[in-house]
Formats: sequence, C-alpha cells, structure tokens
Amino acid sequence: MNPKPLVKLNPMQSTSNYTRDRCITGIHGLDEILRGGIPHGSTVLAAGTCGSGKTTLAMEFLVRGALAKFPESCAHFTATEPSIKLLENIRQYAFFDMKMVDSGKINVFDMDVLYSWLGLDKASFDLDDVHALIKAIINIVHEIGATRLVIDSVTTLCYKIKSEQLIRDFLFTLGKKLASLGCTTILISEITSATENAHWSSFGVEEAIADGIIVMGDVERMGHLLRFLQVVKMRGTSHSRAKHAIELTPLGVMLTPMLKWGAQHDKTNKVGG
Ligand SMILES: Nc1ncnc2c1ncn2[C@@H]1O[C@H](COP(=O)(O)OP(=O)(O)OP(=O)(O)O)[C@@H](O)[C@H]1O
Ligand SMILES: [Mg+2]
Repeated sequence: MNPKPLVKLNPMQSTSNYTRDRCITGIHGLDEILRGGIPHGSTVLAAGTCGSGKTTLAMEFLVRGALAKFPESCAHFTATEPSIKLLENIRQYAFFDMKMVDSGKINVFDMDVLYSWLGLDKASFDLDDVHALIKAIINIVHEIGATRLVIDSVTTLCYKIKSEQLIRDFLFTLGKKLASLGCTTILISEITSATENAHWSSFGVEEAIADGIIVMGDVERMGHLLRFLQVVKMRGTSHSRAKHAIELTPLGVMLTPMLKWGAQHDKTNKVGG
C-alpha cells in the first residue's frame, strides 16, 4: 500500500510544470546548454580572460535578437574600446551587418560620451554620480525599448566606483530596473584567470549580484590555446556545467562539448600525422 502524503500541495506550490520565459540567445550551442535560453530579464556576468571572445559572444547575442522572428531592440555600451573600433572589428564577421546599426536595431554607445553628457569626467564616482549613471542607462534602454543589453565591460566601469558597497548598489539597482523593463543583460567582466579557484569578477561583488555567470577562458592542448566557455550558474534554470570549446567562426560563435572536441581534434591530428 502506498503511504499517503502528509501534506497536500495547493496549486501554487505545485510548480513542476512552470518554466520561466526564455531569452533565446541564438548562439550555436548556448541555448542547449541553458535548456532553452537565458531566463528572461536576467543579468548575466560574462567573465573572461583577455581575448577569450567576450565581445564577440556579446555582440552575437545582440545580433541574434535583432534578427529574431520578432526583432528585438538592442543596446551595447562600450567602455573598453571606442565604438568605431568595436564596429570595425566586429563587421569582419559575416554574422554582423552594419545595416543593423544604421537602422537602429543595434544601438552602440560610448561610455566616455555618456560620462561627458552627464558631466562625469572624473576619476571616481560618488553615490549621486552612480544614481545619475543608472538613470541615464535606464532612460536610454526605455527610450529605445531595448530588451537585450550589453555593458562591455562592467569592470572598466566599476573601477570608477571606489567602494564595494557602491558597486553592489549600482549593479543591484541596475539589474532590478533592467529586469522590470523586460531587458536581458550581459555584463562583461574582465578576469585574469578562469581556473576553478578564480574569482569571476574583479571586485568580488559582481558574481554575487548576477543571476548568471558564464566563464570564458583558455586551455592549452598540444601547443594550441583553445577557448572554452562554462556556465557556472544561471538562476531559474537547470543547465550544463561542462566546459565547452568555443570557436569564433565567420557565422558566429560555435560551442561544442570540450571532451568531444578534444577527441575529434586529437583524431584529426593523428590522421594528419
Ligand atoms: N574575424 C575573426 N575571425 C575569427 N577570430 C577572430 C576574428 N577577429 C578576431 N578574432 C579573434 O578574436 C579575438 C578577440 O575576440 P574578442 O574581442 O571577442 O575577445 P575579448 O574577450 O572581448 O577580448 P578583450 O579582452 O580584448 O576585450 C582575437 O584575439 C582573435 O584571436
Ligand atoms: Mg572585448
């Protein structure tokens, strides 16, 4: 005889059929890793070492949104390189079309220009400055109706915010307001090491505030420096935590499970001598 349950769940408690709406990244392999995409409205920290492909991945995330069946409006705030340089580099990829920028589907903003507009040409920001910056970013997102946002990088931006508490407030408030606007955000974080024991952020607070953490780095295999991506956390969904190899191809970022890639790579090398 089956034992009777002691407590009967009410419909609100029975959540097994509930799934959160997803922002389908459109990046080859990433939506499978995330079991359907990033939970809508999340703030995701993409933490990676230099040259690991952070900007390319983030830009493709916007491109896929702009090209979706129901096209999304996208915004990219660049703090690490001027927008002209960023676009010059990214337009070499076949997946990117300058028409998306010219038509206003992808809006690229220089953080330096934004600082000038706000009169924030200074080395460090206080509480008022931080609030002015949040307000400006939110206004822009609201104005263009952006539902995908990238800040490249939050590390560069946070260097100007001297206290940990202010950085925490800045990221928490920004994330909350963006989520209320229905915007899914990628915050790029520059890290010096992507090993198991590394921090995924420069200031140690970004990773706690973020809904998700995607780590990008390099592994050396047989004299090759291979790029990898690993989803460390993503609130609101189950996901793979396996390392995946990244290839930056003209058609976009391609992710394949690391072991499989390694096996194929080793086999190819053997065949080729
Ligand atoms: N057209 C291209 N096709 C394939 N790979 C490219 C192409 N252009 C650049 N790359 C590779 O991409 C790397 C840069 O990628 P990306 O700018 O996305 O990295 P990042 O992590 O943002 O770098 P950074 O730390 O400098 O911000 C280059 O170092 C180069 O190896
Ligand atoms: Mg970059």
